[in-house]
Amino acid sequence: MSKLPASVAAPAQADELTNSALAGLRRTPKQLSPVWFYDELGSTLFDSICELPEYYVTRTEMQIMQDHSAEMAQALGPRVALIEYGSGSSLKTRLLLDKLQDLASYVPIDISRDYLLEAAGSLARDYPALQIIPVVADFTQPFDLPTQIAAAQRRVVYFPGSTLGNFERPQAVRVLGGMRTIIGRRGAVLIGIDLKKDPRVLERAYDDAAGITARFNLNALRHMNRELGADFDLTAFEHRALWVEEQNRIEMHLVSKRDQIVHLGDEEVAIGRNEHLRTECCHKYTLEGFADLAAEADLAVVRVWTDAERQFSVQLLEPRGIQ
Ligand code: TRP
Repeated sequence: MSKLPASVAAPAQADELTNSALAGLRRTPKQLSPVWFYDELGSTLFDSICELPEYYVTRTEMQIMQDHSAEMAQALGPRVALIEYGSGSSLKTRLLLDKLQDLASYVPIDISRDYLLEAAGSLARDYPALQIIPVVADFTQPFDLPTQIAAAQRRVVYFPGSTLGNFERPQAVRVLGGMRTIIGRRGAVLIGIDLKKDPRVLERAYDDAAGITARFNLNALRHMNRELGADFDLTAFEHRALWVEEQNRIEMHLVSKRDQIVHLGDEEVAIGRNEHLRTECCHKYTLEGFADLAAEADLAVVRVWTDAERQFSVQLLEPRGIQ
């Protein structure tokens, strides 16, 4: 998942953020934006989630990269301009960078400026010959690619972490469509996609025994209290991870333990006992289901790498009609 700024509420924006938070809380069911997960504590908790025994996602994707990055590099070909969406710490990328031949440039894109520059700096030390061009941007919106990327290079978007799964279908199609535009006719996308599996495994992955994911979810309320001056009582909510079969997704909820009133801006929000606030959706795909989604954005799946248990996949996509 891309890291968002530790402090999202510059004073001028605070009203807008309050209004959009209130709009979410007036919906049925109530919703909170996942942007509230990522303050400094949230980012640290997220890093801990990635190391939890129940959270197979990060470990499995790393293993697939370790086992197959040479093949991936070969499929991508020489003189690639590698463009990474939501690059974060670029950990998985290093496995790929090590194998790509004559890599032309690496363009990490992230919304969090400080985090991006720090990660780019550390990569520059380890890959002194590599042209690194960090871009601060929100990849869900149109953005310009740096002009240094020559037309002759093959543009490849790398989007690991199954972050695409955190978007609802229409937005997921838009994000894939944005990639399709950026890569041009000869480019490619290398994307990490989590696969559908036993709901018990999924619910455990998002509701671990040590309670780290629960703390991560509840921290969204703490962040809103601090940035928006809200008064959520963190002890009055419980974390829940729910598999919703019809939508093929895990939903993260905060369930109210009692009837309560929360103040936000100059408004009151009544939350009933057992009422759910939904904070994030994590969609899971079958291989066919994801191929259909990609096709909607004019992309065809040309190769799929998975682990032995078929828990996770890394997929190579190319513009449709050129295979
Ligand atoms: N995209 C990853 C996933 O769906 C990471 C992630 C995003 C996540 N939001 C999360 C993990 C909330 C746990 C909880 O698994």
